[in-house]
Amino acid sequence: MDQIRVHGGRPLTGRLPISGAKNAALPLMAASLLTAEPLNLANVPRLADIASMASILRQLGVRIDIAEGIAGGGDTMTLSADEIVSTVAPYDLVRKMRASVLVLGPLLARFGEATVSLPGGCAIGNRPVDLHLKGLSELGATLDIENGYIKASAPSDGRLRGGRVAFPFVSVGATENLLMAAALADGETVLVNAAREPEIVDLARLLTAMGAEIEGAGTDTVHIQGRETLSGAAHRVIPDRIETGTYAMAVGVAGGDVVLEGADGDLIAAVIQTLRDAGVLVEAVEGGLRVVRGADPVVGVDVMTEPYPGFPTDLQAQFMALMSVARGASMITETIFENRFMHVPELGRMGANINVHHASAMVRGVPQLTGAPVMATDLRASVSLVLAGLGAVGDTTISRVYHLDRGYDRLVEKLTACGAAIERLPAERAAAEE
Ligand code: UD1
Repeated sequence: MDQIRVHGGRPLTGRLPISGAKNAALPLMAASLLTAEPLNLANVPRLADIASMASILRQLGVRIDIAEGIAGGGDTMTLSADEIVSTVAPYDLVRKMRASVLVLGPLLARFGEATVSLPGGCAIGNRPVDLHLKGLSELGATLDIENGYIKASAPSDGRLRGGRVAFPFVSVGATENLLMAAALADGETVLVNAAREPEIVDLARLLTAMGAEIEGAGTDTVHIQGRETLSGAAHRVIPDRIETGTYAMAVGVAGGDVVLEGADGDLIAAVIQTLRDAGVLVEAVEGGLRVVRGADPVVGVDVMTEPYPGFPTDLQAQFMALMSVARGASMITETIFENRFMHVPELGRMGANINVHHASAMVRGVPQLTGAPVMATDLRASVSLVLAGLGAVGDTTISRVYHLDRGYDRLVEKLTACGAAIERLPAERAAAEE
């Protein structure tokens, strides 16, 4: 298996392009199932998770054409769901990526039935889909679990009907599934305690362009007027706020002066405030965000992960890498996922001083991390080890690179262009050097 090797101690300088948002692109692709007309998506990142969603959609009968972006820009994807051949999303595809469950709402709404494998657990926690199912049942769906599959059907006339869905707590995926289903339902749907993430707003923008009438996306109450049919549309995926935050934190760890091209600071206001509190300069400049950290180390700041607009759980591991080398201590509390501290022992192997107690980690900053062979069990944990490696003395070798391929478009190229000493070791070389 490939590895990534980082030789630490070099500051980052230059310009680093931010790709389209993975977590926006995945539901947008699923929305192609809602219409027989083509959907055109620009600024799609090149990622393993995007390829996984494309495999699922292709197996349902969606035709997908991809035009590669020029000069490292995002791809343009055209999806046509005019000849769906199946409404079954099988286990071998769904288990690879939990976001596959986003095909459930659109399939059910357009074809009156869907059979989707339960995604199962994942490294960061149990992650059930009960809120998705409960919400769809409020729109009149009948849902059964059989042999590990969700079997869903619409009322006898084949069409979901608008309803009121009050989520007991905030779920990004459930809000997205319900938005898509409601866009083809008969009448008005109201989502109460909906997720407010920018990716929800992006999906609502697409659904509106397809003909649905949506009010309140980005607030906790969303009203959707369903349509009998939806049309095709052209849409540009928003910049990836998690990738933006990750590279901003990389500058915090390694030091330097980098412009994150295409980044939108409005999407990560809470993160920017936290970075400023820690002593990292972040300012909006023409075409992006400039991030600077000079000779002084960052200082410890406490954070708690929360649903948007709070500090995102998807940046918790990276922030912990940054706090590992801060002056002073930081208390990091994870409130979204119950098991999202797998990076802690690996950061510990690099010399970090971190104690976990229930959902909180006490990070006591050390002056210097040291390189080590490390591995992680999920996407954001893996990238936190890359960040730690950028600031460490010596070499850090990160295994299980496929996690990074899931969510970071051209990570090695982007960091290399900013002066990092980072390389990908193909499987044979990695094995020979082990
Ligand atoms: C999305 C993001 C993921 C991010 C997460 C939280 C995508 C593709 N993924 O995941 O990167 O970390 O939001 O910001 O956009 N839950 C239930 N029952 C449900 C649904 C969720 O108990 O039916 C729980 C989850 O286990 C978790 C919490 O709710 O503890 C939040 O999960 P949710 O917002 O649904 O996350 P995802 O949509 O899976």
